Parts: sequence; C-alpha cells; structure tokens
Amino acid sequence: MTTPAPKKLYIKTWGCQMNEYDSRRMADVLAPLGYKPVEEADDADMVILNTCHIREKATDKVFSDLGRIRDNKMEKAARGEKMIVAVAGCVAQAEGEFIAKRAPYVDMVFGPQTYHLLPEMVVKATGQRVINTEFATENKFDTLPAESGNTGPAAHLSIQEGCDKFCTFCVVPYTRGAEFSRPLAAIIEEAKRMAGGGTKDITLLGQNVNAWHGENGETLGDLLYALHDIDGIAQLRYMTSHPRDMHDRLYDAHRDLPKVMPYVHLPIQSGSDAILKAMNRKHTAADYMEIITRLKKGRPDIAFSSDFIVGFPGESDSHFEETMALVGQVEFASSFSFKYSARPGTPAASMQGLVRDEVASERLARLQELLRKQAQDFNSACVGKTMDVVFSGTGSKDGQLYARTPYNQAIHVEAPARLFGQLARVEVTGAHANALTGRVATAETVLAA
Ligand code: SAH
Ligand code: SF4
Ligand code: F3S
Repeated sequence: MTTPAPKKLYIKTWGCQMNEYDSRRMADVLAPLGYKPVEEADDADMVILNTCHIREKATDKVFSDLGRIRDNKMEKAARGEKMIVAVAGCVAQAEGEFIAKRAPYVDMVFGPQTYHLLPEMVVKATGQRVINTEFATENKFDTLPAESGNTGPAAHLSIQEGCDKFCTFCVVPYTRGAEFSRPLAAIIEEAKRMAGGGTKDITLLGQNVNAWHGENGETLGDLLYALHDIDGIAQLRYMTSHPRDMHDRLYDAHRDLPKVMPYVHLPIQSGSDAILKAMNRKHTAADYMEIITRLKKGRPDIAFSSDFIVGFPGESDSHFEETMALVGQVEFASSFSFKYSARPGTPAASMQGLVRDEVASERLARLQELLRKQAQDFNSACVGKTMDVVFSGTGSKDGQLYARTPYNQAIHVEAPARLFGQLARVEVTGAHANALTGRVATAETVLAA
C-alpha cells in the first residue's frame, strides 16, 4: 500500500501573537488528515487566512489577499484540482456573513474559538460551504491535540483568552469572546512537555495575560512560581498585561524569580485621565506610574513597553501633551503606537469629537519620534553589557545566531551553529534602531538551565 502524497496547507497570519499561536495549532489539528504546511499559496490544497480585525487597515489586507487566492483557486480548478479556501480569525468572527456574500469562492469561515472542529469542517467543506462563528460550548483547549513534537528553543504558550474589559475602541471582546483561563495543571503539563522537547524560553500568551486565574484563586504570579521549578526552562516571559490586573504575587515574582525576564509589556493607551475614562480603561495615569515604581522597586533593571492610541474621539492638544509627558517620564524600551481607527459596533465609533486625520497623523509622528528615540537610547545603553539568551534562530548574517534578550530586543550574535537551542552568555557589541548585535562572551558560558 502506498501512502498518499501529503496535502499542501498554506496558512497566512495577521494580528497578534494569539493568532500566531492559533495558526500553529490549526496545523496540528490538520496534520492527522495529511496536511503539511507549505510556504506558497499558489498550489496549496488548503489556504487558511487567519485574520485580524483590530484596525481598519488590518481588515482591508484580507480582502486584497483573497482576490489573489481566488485566482490561484481558479488556476487549480482549470487543472482539475481542488483548493479549499478558509477565512479564520477575528475578521471571520466579526464579518463572517459579509465574507460569505462578498467572496463566494471561500469554502470555510470560522472564528478563533472553533478551529478545533476543523476536521469535521473540512469533511463538510468538500461538499458545501461551512460558516462557523459560534462560541463553542466546549473548550477548544480540551479538544486540541498535544503541541506537535518540538516547539523550538523559544516558544509561546497560550494560557488565557478573550476579554471582558470592553475598552470602548476595541473589537477583541466581540471577536474572541469572554475571558477564559486554562487550568493550572494543563499549563504546567504543556510547559513540561515543551521543556522536554528542548524549549528553554517560554512566553505565556493571553489577550489579558495577567487576568489569568487558576481554579483555586491562583494568579499569574503563582503560575510563574510553579513554572520556575521546571527543569530546562531558563527564561519566562508573558504578554499582554493590563494595568488593572496587577496582583501582589506578580510583583513578588519579578522581585524573586531570576527566570522571569525583567520586562513588561503594559499598554497604557493614553496619558490623559479624561481620555482613559472615555476609553473605559478604568485606570488613571497615576495608577500606571505607581505600577512602574513598584515593579522597579523589586527589580531595578526592569524595562517597559506600551501600546498607544492617538486621535481617540475627544482628544485635545492638551490631552495629547499629557501622553507625551507620561512617555517622557517612563522612558519605554520599545512601544507600539497607532492612530485611532473606528471599529463598527464599538461604543467609541459613535462618540462625538472626531479628531481630524491630519491632526492625528501629526500627533502620531511626534509620539513615534519620541518612542523611537527612547528605544534607540535604551538599545545604546545595552552596549557593553552581558546578557543570557537562548539561541532560537539563524542571525541576519552568516555565522550569526538569533535570540531575544531579557528585554525582548532582537539580537544577532556571532556564534557557532552548535549553540543553536542553547542558553549562553553574550556581550552586546552594537545597537541599531530595531536590533542589537553581540558575541558569545566566552565559550565556557553555555549555561545549564
Ligand atoms: N489586550 C491588550 C491589547 C489588545 S489590541 C490591551 O488591553 O492592552 C493591541 C493594541 O491595538 C491595543 O493595545 C491598542 O493600542 C490597539 N488598538 C486596539 N483597538 C484599536 C483601534 N480601534 N484603533 C487603534 N488602535 C487600536
Ligand atoms: Fe481590547 Fe481593552 Fe480587552 Fe485589551 S483590555 S483586549 S484593549 S477591550
Ligand atoms: Fe487582531 Fe484578533 Fe488579535 S483582532 S489583535 S487577531 S485578537
């Protein structure tokens, strides 16, 4: 008996790291059906576009890609071959019916909470179209197969999903559904499996990762203490955190646990209390500064990054100046900043006080200039320092390996290939806007995790 040729699976991913995690898991779910990931859509047997709905631009990209995929599908059909086209993720969740109408060549539309049902959907889709944007009653994490064998030296582990916070600008509570935490034991088991497969650097993922809670009232700090004991794990990170979910134990973890990296991605969005209130963030700029001060007290070398939105409805020049002042005070290691984009169905979309596009663009340019300078200063200050890193990829040049520093900077290090997957001490030799360069400090410094 000959085994059938593998079917080619092309997945394109937009948006946040939750989506990247989901894409990887979709491939795991489809593997038993004979699907193998490929790099090109042209000749694929199945194409999945895993989409993001966070801003208008993100959504537009999906439709422009779909046009190209339709051509690929037609070329295949002319050769008598079939291509299953699927739209997944947050655009699928928010605009499923619209996609189905506008793009009749799409065979499957499914949201972020139903992809564990892919095998059934695929069988159906060979005969008819499938639209599945329910919030499944069962939990996808209970149904998904174990992570496929080797997750690599640095990997993500999804521990929490969804959001109940309803910031007035944001689609996530609608596309991802209610907040949900995976049980502590399941996370520990998965982390041990990953460590057994050689993963040394784990980033815990969640839409509001510090809203994670265990069945017995444990919080993210407790989880970090538990993970810290696993042999083989050298570095622990987590993202994205919300200023409202900072529990005592998380401060303790940063103070006490050397494997917890001294870096927190903690979006504030705006430095103005009036705007924060209109955003329904339920924290003030002073609350944010208190968090920063307390984290620094336990771990003086800790660094921060944030997300910002400029041009939120009602944002005046002076509100914006408050954001600039806060940025000046904190000095971020890196940051993401965006122009406000009205999202259909969110409360902010019907608010008064729209900010003119030129004004918003000007503010964004000023903010980004300041953030860029802070990132450059932070990177420059790292030159000459030694840091422990896990080599997880090849560098940008021959003879280099790639890693993330404890502060989440990309670093390209002159290092022999045999150090791939190892934890090593490196010296930072150069700083650029988006990355560092370095060399292995000494050959003997390969560390046991
Ligand atoms: N859960 C995280 C981040 C979610 S989305 C948090 O609460 O911080 C990632 C970022 O996209 C947000 O932090 C915000 O800065 C940005 N964003 C979300 N909705 C947006 C919108 N309507 N317009 C512009 N930026 C937006
Ligand atoms: Fe969106 Fe706010 Fe929830 Fe973050 S906390 S996902 S910004 S609603
Ligand atoms: Fe985008 Fe959905 Fe993530 S809207 S940012 S892919 S949760």
